[in-house]
This record gives sequence, C-alpha cells and structure tokens, in this order.
Amino acid sequence: MDKVLSAIKPTGQLTLGNYIGALKNFPKYQEDNDVLIFIADYHALTLPIDPQVLYTNTRDICAFYLAAGLDPEKCTIFLQSQVPAHAELATILGNYVHMGELSRMTQFKDKSRSLNEKNIGLGLFTYPVLMASDIVLYQAKKIPVGEDQKQHVELTRDIVERFNHIYGEILVKPEPVISKVGARIMSLSDPTRKMSKSDPKGDIFLKDDLMIIRKKIMQAKTDTGCEVKFDRENKPGISNLLTIYASLKEISIEEAEKEFVGANYGTFKKAVADVTVDILGAFQKRYYEIINSDLIDKVLKSGAIKARELSSKTLNDVKRAIGLYGVL
Ligand code: TYM
Repeated sequence: MDKVLSAIKPTGQLTLGNYIGALKNFPKYQEDNDVLIFIADYHALTLPIDPQVLYTNTRDICAFYLAAGLDPEKCTIFLQSQVPAHAELATILGNYVHMGELSRMTQFKDKSRSLNEKNIGLGLFTYPVLMASDIVLYQAKKIPVGEDQKQHVELTRDIVERFNHIYGEILVKPEPVISKVGARIMSLSDPTRKMSKSDPKGDIFLKDDLMIIRKKIMQAKTDTGCEVKFDRENKPGISNLLTIYASLKEISIEEAEKEFVGANYGTFKKAVADVTVDILGAFQKRYYEIINSDLIDKVLKSGAIKARELSSKTLNDVKRAIGLYGVL
C-alpha cells in the first residue's frame, strides 16, 4: 500500500479550482492506499490572517474533506498544528535547503511581489521547508496536488536526496501526482490567470449560492469565434470551461469536445453550469449537514492521535541519524 498525502491551507474561501485540482481526487485513493489528508494551518499564517477567519476556514476545510467523500475510518484527517513533529522536522530540514532554492520558488516570488520587502515574513520564505517536512514525516510517496504545488514537491525530492546522501536511506522520495485534466483551473473573468482563493470576483467559491455559480458561468469570459474547441492559446476561456466540464464529468477533453460539436457558446455554458450546480449542490448539502455537527472535532481529535504516532517514528529516525542526543 502506498502512502498518499495531501493538504489544503485554510486561507480564503476554497474555489472550484481547489475542488477540481485537489479535493475531489482525494477520496479516490482511500480504498487501496494509506491516505493522510490534513489542514495546513501553519501554512495559513504565512500571510496575515484574522484569527476568527482562520478558525472558521479550518472547520470548513475539515467539513469539505468529509463532504467530498473522505471517510475517517479509511484515512487519517488531521490538523497540522496539532502534530508537533511538523514544526520540529522543519527546524531540522531548514539546514539542508539553500536560500537560493527558496528564493527561486515561483509561489514565493508571486506572493512576495505584492508585499513591501519589509513585510515579507520569514514564514513565507521557509514555507517549502515546512511543506517538505509535512510530506517526508509520513514517508508519503504520492502527493496529489494541482500544478502550482509541483515545484514544492520537486524541492522536497531534492531535499530528500541531499539528506539521504549524507545519512543513508532514511527519507522516502515523494512524487507529485497531477491530473491530466484540471490541474490548473483558470479564473472565469480572466482565463489567463489562475483561479484563486484570494480573488473576490470571477471565481467560483465552493460555498457560493447555486444561482450565483450559474450566473458566474453564464457570464464567463469567452473568446472570439463560435466553435467549442480546446485551444489554450487562442481560446483560453472556452478551454477553461471545457476543462471544468470534462473534470467534473470525469471524461477526457476530446470526449467533452465531441459532445458540443455544432453547439453555440450559450448552449455549452448552460451545460457547464448544469453539471457544476449539480455537483456543488450535492456537495454543499453534505457540507451543511457536517458543519453544524460534532463530527469535525471528533475526526480531528482521532486524526491527531494517529498522525502524532506515525510522525514520531520518522522524526526519531532523523534525529538519531543526524546525531541529536537523547532520542527517546
Ligand atoms: P493550497 O491550499 O493553495 O491549494 C490546495 C490544492 O488546490 C490546488 N489548486 C488548484 N488546482 C487547480 N486549479 C487551481 N486554480 C487551483 N488552485 C489551487 C493546489 O495545487 C493544491 O493541491 N502548499 C499547499 C498545501 C500543503 C500541501 C502540503 C500539499 C501544505 N503541505 C503537503 C501537499 C502536501 C497549498 O498551499 O495548497
């Protein structure tokens, strides 16, 4: 059984991009793999966040995991900050990563660009070290993520290689698992930009009213011409909608294109809206049943106990290997 691990950080409202690129794929692994899915709340601190918002988002993500079909009997769901080994290992692994590597991370460059240099926190810079620790603590092999996280998983591979070269085969090298379709859902109002939690308009949020979701899709920016054809360069809007449609229906882009031969943009958009509203409608119904129950606290409590036990093994192996005295 392979170990599969992934996480979402509780900043902002989750989008359809998070759903397609990550969330909806997690439950597929739980029958035949050892699955660990957590809420990356330490990561949420890397940009300023209101404590009440962080608290609410954290509960929301746990409810979203369950609403998406993750079964706490079949996988481990936990909160990063409730497992001290993540921060401990990050303190250690920080010594095996170079400043140059961290400055080259696209996400760091993107996120720090909008900040004055004096306001760039150390946590934003060292973020990939914490993420590498998250992954290697559980000897996770497969990391299902959207395209924007690929570089972080690749850096984790480099860190593992470097560490193992010095101390022997202690850490497992992970692989990013990125869906062929839907790894990068773009904004509906500007299909050249990634759909993101921090954009208030144009993007579909998982808790949006279903009427709003339909409206956003019907008003999505499309391209010149009238053919429903996948062409990222010349038809970014239609290509994005085709990607959303194909991902939600679990079909290929080619199959989706075939369904709309001869159809106009209006008919096509209505079909995209119908499938999105169907799927998110059922998802929201499950979410609202869970969010007000005591299930969230129960799941996070038992998940933290399991994750603490699992993570302590790797942490102790690492400590022993590097010569930290007094490993219990
Ligand atoms: P986060 O919270 O930014 O995003 C969660 C997941 O959603 C994917 N995603 C998208 N996929 C397709 N289209 C989009 N527009 C889109 N936007 C986001 C992301 O690729 C991601 O898979 N650093 C991570 C959280 C993390 C993590 C980990 C992940 C912390 N430790 C260990 C895996 C393993 C993050 O901030 O994801």
